Amino acid sequence: MKMESRVFFLLICISSFMSAVKTQEAQVPNITDLTFKNTDFAMNLYRKISNYHDNNIFFSPLSVSTAFATLTLAARNSTRSQILSGLNLDTLEQTEQPELIPQLFQHLQGNITQDGALKLEQGTALFVDLHFQIEKAFSDQIKKYFEADIENVDFGKVDISKGTINKHVKKKTGEKVKEIVTTIEPLTQMMLINTIFFQGAWEKPFNPNNTENSRFYVDKYNIVQVPMMFSTDKFYIASDDELKVKVLRLPYLGGAAMLIVLPDANVDYTIIDDEINAKRFHSWITNMKKTKLEVYLPKFKMEQSYSMHKILSSLGIHDLFRDSANLKGMSQEPGLKVSKVLHKAVIDVDEKGTVAAAATSVSITGYSLPNTFNVNRPFFFFIYHEATNSLLFMGRVIDPTKN
Ligand SMILES: *[C@@H]1O[C@H](CO)[C@@H](O)[C@H](O)[C@H]1NC(C)=O
Ligand SMILES: *[C@@H]1O[C@H](CO)[C@@H](O)[C@H](O)[C@H]1NC(C)=O
Ligand SMILES: *[C@@H]1O[C@H](CO)[C@@H](O)[C@H](O)[C@H]1NC(C)=O
Ligand SMILES: *[C@@H]1O[C@H](CO)[C@@H](O)[C@H](O)[C@H]1NC(C)=O
Repeated sequence: MKMESRVFFLLICISSFMSAVKTQEAQVPNITDLTFKNTDFAMNLYRKISNYHDNNIFFSPLSVSTAFATLTLAARNSTRSQILSGLNLDTLEQTEQPELIPQLFQHLQGNITQDGALKLEQGTALFVDLHFQIEKAFSDQIKKYFEADIENVDFGKVDISKGTINKHVKKKTGEKVKEIVTTIEPLTQMMLINTIFFQGAWEKPFNPNNTENSRFYVDKYNIVQVPMMFSTDKFYIASDDELKVKVLRLPYLGGAAMLIVLPDANVDYTIIDDEINAKRFHSWITNMKKTKLEVYLPKFKMEQSYSMHKILSSLGIHDLFRDSANLKGMSQEPGLKVSKVLHKAVIDVDEKGTVAAAATSVSITGYSLPNTFNVNRPFFFFIYHEATNSLLFMGRVIDPTKN
């Protein structure tokens, strides 16, 4: 048997008009610095999303960072500096090396995908109206650093352009998203689409024969029945006594892992919202101990959509969405701004009828850790690339029966 988790994410920027930049070489900050900054951005973004939504949350911080990092090659002045500080990348900026940040993203992407075993595909595409000419320097740069494709469409012909874009997205998401664009606004001149698709098989699969309906305590008053998976094996676990959470790592084959953060039974999960940051995330993953454990984890599935332009505005990215936007790097024409950023992410953790490889076993360490990890109440989860500690997805499950 095999436990598979399917995740995909979709980000769409609908913009009116666009264009390019200049560049050079770089070094100083490296991808370790980038992933640390990206992780803090992810936590900031999570907090903003949780201000708007009290239910389940799921998104790909890496996709948002990557999509907006492409726009730094087009943006100028305060439009650009707001994007950099909103993404938490301003301190990596080297004035004499304007292409450093795109280069770091390029290196990170190369590092994440170098191991062919990890089924993770990320792609950026720009659909531009036929009447609009993109500056060559910009299209060259986004191709070089982000492997972004540029395609011309006629937005005047709504049905045809819609079809082209939906076909692209369908292909890039392993046919999981069949129709993303339902309407095209009349003034649309460009769409920026970022997709990410991840498919992971647990290194230690759950036996579906052990899955049983069980109680999940949404809150004091609400209890739901969920299909609860069960496994007993050696797992890496950490205890954060200050935050009153237990942390469990569930590795996937191919170099990624899911980190489950479970607040202690009497702890309000909303308190944890304010406390998670990159430093804490790193301390969890570096302080794990291997121990024999009984794990209970609900099967869950969810699909979430967010209007990212609203959320990013609350992180200080304003000009990009206003008439004062400066995207001169993409086009010399005035009036260019981003009107919409749609973000859609889907996760599906389910059982499949295939055998997955077994993991190596290491001797048990005797710490005062629990011997049962029962995920029967709201929890947080993080899917990350282990070699770089890069956060690919993050989310929160309050009620696993709500999609
Ligand atoms: C990045 O730089 C830091 C020091 O600035 C170093 O400790 C770390 O190993 C470097 N990481 C990589 C991947 O080179
Ligand atoms: C934008 O930045 C350029 C180059 O740094 C500068 O020459 C120009 O005055 C700035 N424009 C505004 C409106 O601040
Ligand atoms: C699950 O149960 C069925 C029927 O008892 C059995 O044939 C099968 O081998 C079991 N699967 C696993 C993975 O143990
Ligand atoms: C990938 O990143 C990790 C951690 O930063 C580093 O140890 C490794 O050498 C990198 N690999 C390549 C091929 O860059």
